[in-house]
Amino acid sequence: MPDRRATKHSTHPLPRRRVAFEYPDNWNPAWIPAKPEFAYAANSVSLMMPYAEPHFIRAVRHYLPELEPDLRQRTKDYIRQESQHHAEHKRLNELIAQAYPKVSKVERRMDRVFDWLWRRWSRPFNLAYAAGGEIISFGIARWTEKHLGDLFDGAEPVATTLFAWHLAEECEHRSAAFDVYEAVDGSRLRYAWAMLVGLLTLGSFTWLGTFTMLKQDGRFWRPVTWFRMFRWSLSLAFDLLPTMLVSALPGHHPSGFTEPIFLSTWLKQFDPKTGTMPMWQGPALSLPGGHPGGPPPAADPR
Ligand SMILES: [Fe+2]
Ligand SMILES: [Fe+2]
Repeated sequence: MPDRRATKHSTHPLPRRRVAFEYPDNWNPAWIPAKPEFAYAANSVSLMMPYAEPHFIRAVRHYLPELEPDLRQRTKDYIRQESQHHAEHKRLNELIAQAYPKVSKVERRMDRVFDWLWRRWSRPFNLAYAAGGEIISFGIARWTEKHLGDLFDGAEPVATTLFAWHLAEECEHRSAAFDVYEAVDGSRLRYAWAMLVGLLTLGSFTWLGTFTMLKQDGRFWRPVTWFRMFRWSLSLAFDLLPTMLVSALPGHHPSGFTEPIFLSTWLKQFDPKTGTMPMWQGPALSLPGGHPGGPPPAADPR
């Protein structure tokens, strides 16, 4: 039997980018004025992060002592990235909950479901859930990048930058939990099953959170709401399901997926000395020297 702990893993660096997003006082939770339904869906994903990401962290951390030093260090880097993600989302979630108090009921359900997953399902299953969850995040990032102009036209820049940063780092560390899973278990059947459970939990909570906000805003019964929601869901499913399927095939490694070039190029503009990154300005991303209106706005998310 080969020693799974010695399995080859991705060595792509996972740097820690210290960011701190500050939102304007009058921040509007329907932060994409032309498509508030999509803002609510993104808000719902944000609400899930302080439950889903600590769950992923717990799943990989459990196996840290079993990993060979290189993979252990890389897994610690992954944990650092994820910790910062959910800490930043928590700040956004406070603003969402102030405007939509009923989302706290959805948050309590999220808490219960992730707690149940950890208590009632095996450690290898939870690790496979994290590995599959990362591939789902990667698939969502890739789909989002393809529809940037359509989805984020006129969007509020700080929230958009938060999501762009998070999605770009999701692409960067897409292999991290998978490598831990490969090293300690590696069953593709368990991985596929756990990923399916991940898709169901992620999808259900996204719809539930979105419904809650749509209801409060009186948009729930509008035909255009349902038209958009189904169009986006269908488009995402066509993109995401093949990615998930391919990732479960024997021998496939997530590093084999093409990197979304726009997000990864944008992430490279992060300045570690000043902790700044180009702020999103509508459908165009501000890249130093390449901004269509001249030099990019010197945005500082701190
Ligand atoms: Fe994350
Ligand atoms: Fe992640």
